[in-house]
Amino acid sequence: MFVDLLLGLQWGDEGKGKIVDAISAEYSIISRFQGGPNAGHTIKIGNNSHVLHTIPSGIFHNNLINIIGNGVVIDPIIFEKEILKLSDSNIDFKKNLLISKKAHLIIPTHCLLDQASEKSKGIKKIGSTLKGIGPTYMDKTGRNGIRIGDIFIEGWKTQYAKLKNKHLNIINSLNVDISFNLKKLEDTFFESIEFLKKFSIIDSENFLFDSLRGGKKILAEGAQGSMLDIDFGTYPYVTSSNTTAAGACSGLGIPPTKINKVIGIFKAYTTRVGSGPFPSEIFDDIGEKISRVGNEFGATTGRARRCGWLDLVSLKYAVDINGVTELAIMKSDVMSGINKIKVCTAYTQFGKEISRMPFSLNSASISPIYSEFDGWNEDITNIKSESQLPINLKKYILFIEKKLGVPIKIISVGPKRDQTIYR
Ligand code: GDP
Ligand code: IMO
Ligand code: MG
Repeated sequence: MFVDLLLGLQWGDEGKGKIVDAISAEYSIISRFQGGPNAGHTIKIGNNSHVLHTIPSGIFHNNLINIIGNGVVIDPIIFEKEILKLSDSNIDFKKNLLISKKAHLIIPTHCLLDQASEKSKGIKKIGSTLKGIGPTYMDKTGRNGIRIGDIFIEGWKTQYAKLKNKHLNIINSLNVDISFNLKKLEDTFFESIEFLKKFSIIDSENFLFDSLRGGKKILAEGAQGSMLDIDFGTYPYVTSSNTTAAGACSGLGIPPTKINKVIGIFKAYTTRVGSGPFPSEIFDDIGEKISRVGNEFGATTGRARRCGWLDLVSLKYAVDINGVTELAIMKSDVMSGINKIKVCTAYTQFGKEISRMPFSLNSASISPIYSEFDGWNEDITNIKSESQLPINLKKYILFIEKKLGVPIKIISVGPKRDQTIYR
């Protein structure tokens, strides 16, 4: 078995990009399997921070193949910008980046529809990144979408025009005020399509079958997090793809029987961008401190991330759904200097204690039950071995492992590659 999965277990931004980059050398191929430019995966190399939206996080290793799988949705305008931003990084994109013909295309009116839809929802808006993700997956499952392979087929612009008109009609019917210059958007879009055509666009599932037969090791990189999964997340405040393990099979064409490790990434606390329930959210000074020290601002939209305590109810749920075999705890360095650390171990709902995820968290009647831990004060960002970690952090880690029943194999103590402790 040669495919390992790497997934976020919370509401995204757990630090997936950092760990993919850090462990990439063990693999021959890194493949993104879902999501699109709603993702922002940060990789810090030396003093440079790179944020990837569509490109897999193995791209800084020049001996690796990176695949954008069929389950991903691609905005050619954002893709072009992303590539151009990396022009100083000496990457051979033609060789090291492959794109699935079956990935779906985000067109400008998908983004406009996202905007109009959010506006029409008023205070009930999802808090979308407005990158057109929901509308594009809607067209995919509605069997109206355009795939990357289509842009090479003569007459695809007729398909494009039909889809655009459908979107404009829906936008009209939503009766909200959004302003746009479609002509300008389309000019940029079609220029970016020409840019995109120059890349290696392939039947990536076949490439992956051959690679598996050839004994190559593949890492499947997830975007977003389990609590944003379209089926198992905090619906409707979710994204529009399966962010969980099964999404890797459908989003790459990989058989479940080939999956080996499932690496679950989580922060030592919890964050969430956008709307939706968040039982362990912190509203006091400690939340503000975590946000400041952890620099909790969205890598894609710059929005402030809401911060809260670690929630072991939702984390256990994510571990179960994904079949996580090992964990990586991120950003424990951010918790240094907090006197008392809380961990949510159960909820109360309608006055009753529950320890499993209920049907919905969208209710004011849900509140967290906490266990409390003594914190640590030491700066841990330069620590290289587990034995040097503060005793209270070790106790915290042990408690989490026991509750989740899965070993924590990686302890991340900073954003850089070498700020990673392997156990
Ligand atoms: P992703 O979407 O899961 O890849 O995560 P993001 O890149 O959106 O957000 C994670 C942020 O935390 C980035 O700014 C990373 O550079 C940073 N980061 C990752 N691991 C650590 C860590 O262990 N400690 C600290 N302080 N920052 C980290
Ligand atoms: P990475 O891969 C955190 C959130 C949005 C919003 C909801 C729906 O960097 O972890 P969408 O744009 O998909 O319609 O937004 O999902 N969201 C993310 N939050 N990290 C992400 O990706 C996210 N991608 C989407 O904030 O609440
Ligand atoms: Mg992110």
